[in-house]
Amino acid sequence: MTYTRGIMEPIKVGLLGFGTVGSGTFNVLHRNQEEISRRAGRGIKITQIAVRNPVKARQVLIDLPDTVELTSDFTAVVDNPSLEIIAEMIGGTDIARELVLRAIYSGKHIVTANKALLAIHGTEIFEAARSKGVIVAFEAAVAGGIPIIKVLRESLTANRIQYIAGIINGTTNFILSEMCERGLDFATALADAQRLGYAEADPAFDIEGIDAAHKATIMAAIAFGVPVQFERAYVEGITQLHAIDIRYAEELGYRIKLLGIVRRTTRGIELRVHPTLIPVKRLIANVEGAMNAVLVYGDAVGATLYYGQGAGAEPTASAVIADLVDITRLCMVNPSNRVPHLAFQPDRLESTPILPIDEVTSSYYLRLRVANQIGVLSDITRILATLGVSIDTLLQKKSEFFDEGRVSETIIILITRETLEKNINLVISRIEALSTVRSSVTRLRMEALN
Ligand code: NDP
Ligand code: HSE
Repeated sequence: MTYTRGIMEPIKVGLLGFGTVGSGTFNVLHRNQEEISRRAGRGIKITQIAVRNPVKARQVLIDLPDTVELTSDFTAVVDNPSLEIIAEMIGGTDIARELVLRAIYSGKHIVTANKALLAIHGTEIFEAARSKGVIVAFEAAVAGGIPIIKVLRESLTANRIQYIAGIINGTTNFILSEMCERGLDFATALADAQRLGYAEADPAFDIEGIDAAHKATIMAAIAFGVPVQFERAYVEGITQLHAIDIRYAEELGYRIKLLGIVRRTTRGIELRVHPTLIPVKRLIANVEGAMNAVLVYGDAVGATLYYGQGAGAEPTASAVIADLVDITRLCMVNPSNRVPHLAFQPDRLESTPILPIDEVTSSYYLRLRVANQIGVLSDITRILATLGVSIDTLLQKKSEFFDEGRVSETIIILITRETLEKNINLVISRIEALSTVRSSVTRLRMEALN
């Protein structure tokens, strides 16, 4: 039997927001429209763009075709009956949520790059979309240009996924690389990331680990078939990270990365973001700048690694447009035959608990300053032994604190074997109570990823 496809009108898209991602999407779609429509089977046209200041946007977009209308009326775009897709490129969880829900209830498909929105309001949004039979596509929400959502939802569908560990925030990886390789200070590196369009509108979301936790939350839901539960994620950013620990980690053969980790265990799911020491010989430890990388371990496939630009206008546009093409191809398909939003059938999501950080198992890097006197080390090792925590490496470094020409304090670095976080908390509080210990204990988690 031969199938023929009639000539179809282009599918019309309304764009909400015209910043880094919105303008990148417009430009790439415009530049590659011929190639994209050959793939989609139909043209894809942005016909209306909502911006707060159309005059300013018009000045930037000198080549904007007359067929594209700029308006400051966001609801008029959402309500426009000639549009089939609304691409939400505003960000945040207030106006974006209102507009996305309104668009869904008026029967429009959604493309969004907004991980905050989905990590926090995903359950409500996916339920609304299901009730209206529309698609909510969000490839750009996790790891920018890397098609990790497609991988987790479709390509690895045969697998029971065991864990995902990812460098999923370009801004913080860029900052860590610039500090490490070029010796830049934190503030300068952050300002560069903002200038290059990597950072969130409020960069605290990046540096405090919140953005990575939004993304990890979405990946956990898709990987394990559980609802999005951002409120249960453990989140620690890079603002408390000391340059000295980056240096000591390197000396010990490790690199520090802000990792998003989701792992299936017999007791529940780990969902956490924090600076992590990774052996420098792992590929993922060598991902620098704004690049992202996501390591996914499936029981059948084993370890797989996905690498690419995690932020920026055109890499993100690449993911947004992939979603536009998917919707163009799939909008005529019966909704029950589409890939479910969170990969698992909505009535088959499970309520596996997300483990509190106290119940997470890890190995640890501990750094502290102690008096340079006999017996200190044995006091510390006794505490560890009493609590059943094994030491893998113990290193003593010269401290810069001098007492009448003699070194009076020493820096101790300990690397432990795996133990529960609540055990290491006890270890730390007992060590800090020793009279010979002269500083609080700096603790960093470690992942072997082997
Ligand atoms: P920008 O700040 O560059 O652009 C946001 C756009 O939305 C601007 O046009 C802005 O208008 C408009 N906007 C912001 N707030 C409002 C509001 N309250 N009402 C109406 N319009 C508003 O952000 P990005 O393009 O970087 O990010 C957009 C989304 O994409 C976010 O969800 C972000 O997390 C996500 N994302 C970003 C990536 C990146 O590399 N930048 C990568 C992946 C995802 P105005 O110009 O007037 O301020
Ligand atoms: N601010 C985000 C980052 C943008 O730096 O990764 C991409 O999601």
